[in-house]
Amino acid sequence: MNILSIETSCDETAVSIVRADGDFPNATYAVLGNALFSQIDIHREYGGVFPAVAKREHAKTLVPMLEKALTEAELLSKKESSLPEEKSSELYTILHREPGLGEMLIHFLEQHEVPKIDLISVTSGPGLEPALWVGINFARALATHWNIPIVPINHMEGHVLSSIFTENKIPEISFPALALLISGGHTELVLMKNWGDYTRIGETRDDAVGEAFDKVARMIGLPYPGGPEIGTRAQSARDNNLPTFITLPRPMLDADNLDFSFSGLKTAVRYAVQDKELSPDDIASIAREFEDSVTEVLLKISVKAIEVHNVQTLIVGGGVSANTHIRETFTSFFTAEYPHLAVYFPPRNLSTDNSIMIALAGHAHTAQARTGEQFAEVKADGNLPIGAHE
Ligand code: KG4
Ligand code: ZN
Repeated sequence: MNILSIETSCDETAVSIVRADGDFPNATYAVLGNALFSQIDIHREYGGVFPAVAKREHAKTLVPMLEKALTEAELLSKKESSLPEEKSSELYTILHREPGLGEMLIHFLEQHEVPKIDLISVTSGPGLEPALWVGINFARALATHWNIPIVPINHMEGHVLSSIFTENKIPEISFPALALLISGGHTELVLMKNWGDYTRIGETRDDAVGEAFDKVARMIGLPYPGGPEIGTRAQSARDNNLPTFITLPRPMLDADNLDFSFSGLKTAVRYAVQDKELSPDDIASIAREFEDSVTEVLLKISVKAIEVHNVQTLIVGGGVSANTHIRETFTSFFTAEYPHLAVYFPPRNLSTDNSIMIALAGHAHTAQARTGEQFAEVKADGNLPIGAHE
């Protein structure tokens, strides 16, 4: 089957076409088309993501991404026609909250034959609701027009699948598995007893890790998104053995639960830097200490969860899993101390938000696909917990 997937939960507008041969989890996948537009340059000016700006940009970019992905997949052929009045007014009704998108989509549909797509998979949460709605309404318009089903997808489950996706397959993994999901909006530990069986066993009490990276970066004068910036500076501090500028706590290590807390790190950095002129070395040194603290906390709390739940497989996912220091520290620690634990990190291009992961999750949930009149059940939920739509 050919799956068209749509991701608009935050600041990436992404559309992919993935062909699945076989049933989940034993299928072979082929990424036929993959189009992604990152709004990072637009949000950088504001120092973070503004939902209304993200929504506007998604509405502008979805049709070009659709066209790019379908072209790459060689599923697009030209025609010239005009949609009957009732068809275009149906599409305008579905897209009435997305200014401009209705016109662009109708124009696109009038110029192209119906492509061979069997299912539309779209992120329905968690994320920024105005941004999620653009993707959902776009999916509803396409699915209505093409008369195919839609499957709503949890973005975090997408991250789990993109972390293990290897050589176009979902590998066989041993359960229980533990997913450490670290992104701009989320930090959680999820226990998986089987495919689709998710229990959240730990989460952040305050800021998400990615959010802490972004906020600390901003305080020390680094641009958005802060994660990669801090990573580079921290590495140069290690390479050059720079002196310590600040010593940060390792929050929550002594707690008798599996939760995280990162806002204290941010506050500690704020006090340490206020009213100070920071040299490039000071900035690098702060970045190193912050990254060390976060890495140690993530590692030690994961180890606690692995011990308590007899975990066989560790899956690290979400944008922060792109971090080199976290990857290297985890890999060398677990290779030495837990040689039987299988550890997965996503390939670099699938660590941050993308739509390939939404196609994989869509394939896992084909049984939950909605048709026709059930499209109204597909709704954005900014706080959708993983596993909730089972
Ligand atoms: O998963 P993601 O792309 O979007 C959300 O679902 O939130 O994660 C984005 C987050 C941002 O906070 C960004 O700073 C962080 O991931 N990030 C990183 C790195 N690359 C992205 N954090 C640390 N190191 C990185 N290399
Ligand atoms: Zn994400």
